[in-house]
Amino acid sequence: MAKWNDGRRFEGKVALVTGAGGALGGAVARALGREGATVVLGYRTSEESAGAALREIESAGSEGHIGQLEVTEAESVGRFVGAAAERYGRIDVVVNTAGRIDPDDAVRFADSEEEAFAALLDVDLLGTFRVCQAAVPHLRRTGSGAIVNFSGSYGNGIDQENVVNSVAVTYCAAKGGVRAFTSALARDLAPEIRVNAVAPGPIAANWEDDWEIPKEHIDEALAMTPLGRMGKPEEIAETVLYLASDGGGYTTGQVLEVSGGWILDG
Ligand SMILES: NC(=O)c1ccc[n+]([C@@H]2O[C@H](COP(=O)([O-])OP(=O)(O)OC[C@H]3O[C@@H](n4cnc5c(N)ncnc54)[C@H](OP(=O)(O)O)[C@@H]3O)[C@@H](O)[C@H]2O)c1
Repeated sequence: MAKWNDGRRFEGKVALVTGAGGALGGAVARALGREGATVVLGYRTSEESAGAALREIESAGSEGHIGQLEVTEAESVGRFVGAAAERYGRIDVVVNTAGRIDPDDAVRFADSEEEAFAALLDVDLLGTFRVCQAAVPHLRRTGSGAIVNFSGSYGNGIDQENVVNSVAVTYCAAKGGVRAFTSALARDLAPEIRVNAVAPGPIAANWEDDWEIPKEHIDEALAMTPLGRMGKPEEIAETVLYLASDGGGYTTGQVLEVSGGWILDG
């Protein structure tokens, strides 16, 4: 019987992670490196944080490099992906973690501004599109490429004044776009490339401060979450690794909600 997880699931594979200077992207990059991947870490402004993740990857015995990446610019995306393919000769895994985390995207509908919504779509949805399009020819060549996109939970809709419970309309629309993009792309690229997404619920990262969420709103949201706590970036990383690994080899077009039971199907 196949042993899916020997702790080195990505040995010999090359993985690209966008937003790798961020909380979740950094955790994903580290986890891939720990399991043997050569990791290419895309950062926009967080060079120091991406560099720190790379150093951890190197001290775990893997290799990689950091590269500047602006996902709203096709030329920057082409450069980032092309440099990785040229340097390592292959691309096996792409993780689209880059996302716009901005207080302007955490407001009630009446206060939403078209400009902010367009900027959000440009990063989260079009950015994911640009990276996938640049990487697909390389992923296809491996015969078993994997893409993992970042959607997001919509919340449970209780208490509209609490953006943790009732995730903003524009943000849900952008992440809903990522869901649809993921499932349609999975069909388009099968069987050579699998495409899945993770939809995190509230994960301890930087958004609580960036969006100036009042503590009582966090407490209210956690009181309504069956597991009663925020998720950890490492728990998102583990989900991404499953979806990108051979053990997830029969899974495509899926969006896996990782939200402490916040949203339960049934
Ligand atoms: N944390 C959560 O609870 C949660 C919940 C649901 C969904 N998510 C999603 O998970 C992903 C990661 O979130 P996070 O919590 O780790 O946030 P984060 O720490 O702010 O990381 C997001 C990263 O995206 C990068 N980025 C933003 N705009 C970019 C652009 N135009 N080009 C290239 N990179 C860009 C940023 O790069 P620089 O820092 O280098 O500028 C940043 O490091 C996002 O897609 C987010 O929407 C998170």
